[in-house]
Amino acid sequence: MTSKIVLSVLVLAAASPVALAAFDVIQMLVEKPQYAGFSKLLEQTNVAGDANQLRAASLLVVPDKEMKSLASLPADKLRAAVANHILLSYFDPIKLDEMKTRTALLPTLLSKTDKTLGVLNYTRADDGQMYFGAPGAPCVAKLVKVVAARPYSVSIMEVSEPILPPGFGKPVAAPGRRGKGGKGGKGKIKPSAAGLEESKMPTGKPKEAAAAPTPAS
Ligand SMILES: *[C@@H]1O[C@H](CO)[C@@H](O)[C@H](O)[C@H]1NC(C)=O
Repeated sequence: MTSKIVLSVLVLAAASPVALAAFDVIQMLVEKPQYAGFSKLLEQTNVAGDANQLRAASLLVVPDKEMKSLASLPADKLRAAVANHILLSYFDPIKLDEMKTRTALLPTLLSKTDKTLGVLNYTRADDGQMYFGAPGAPCVAKLVKVVAARPYSVSIMEVSEPILPPGFGKPVAAPGRRGKGGKGGKGKIKPSAAGLEESKMPTGKPKEAAAAPTPAS
C-alpha cells in the first residue's frame, strides 16, 4: 500500500515540469546586494525563469559597479546579453581546472536561440587564473570568485566584467556583411577589440532601468 503511494507520487513528480525547477537563481542572489543590478536584469528579461528550468547551470554574474556596458544595452539586445552569462552545465573552479584543455568553447543559454552567438571562450592562463570572453575576442572577463554553489546543479560565480556576445556594444559594427559561412573557418583575432570595449560609452545611464517602474507580471 505505502509503496504504491510513494510510486504514484514519484510518477507525478517526474511528469510535472515544475519538478525540473530544482533551483531558483534569484533566490540564491537575494542576500548578495552587490549583484542586485544583475539579479534585477535576470528577472526583468526573464532569463532567470529560463535558467531555473535547466538541469544544471552556471551563472557568471557581474558586480553592480561593473554593470554599465550591460545595463546600457538597448532593450532588444539586453535579453541575449544576459542569457550569454548562463552556462548550460555546472562549473566551479575545480571542475574548470580539471578540464583536459586550457581553453574551451562553452555553450550558454543564448545558444538555445542563437547557435552562432551562444558560446563563451573559456581560457586558463599560465598563472591558473581563469577568463571568459566572446569567441574571437580576447578573454578578459576574469573569474573572481564563487558566490554560491550547489554541486552539481547550479553555481554562481563573479566575473570582473560583462561578457557581451560578438558584435554587441560595438558602435561601429560593419553593416552589409553577411554572417560567416558555416564551415567554421578560423576567425582572425583582432587585438583592437579590447580597446573598443574600453573606449565605448563613457556616460552610460545604468540607473535608467531602476527609474522606470516595472509592472509586476
Ligand atoms: C580564446 O581566448 C584565448 C585567449 O584570449 C585565445 O588565445 C583563443 O584564440 C580564443 N579562442 C577562440 C576560439 O576565440
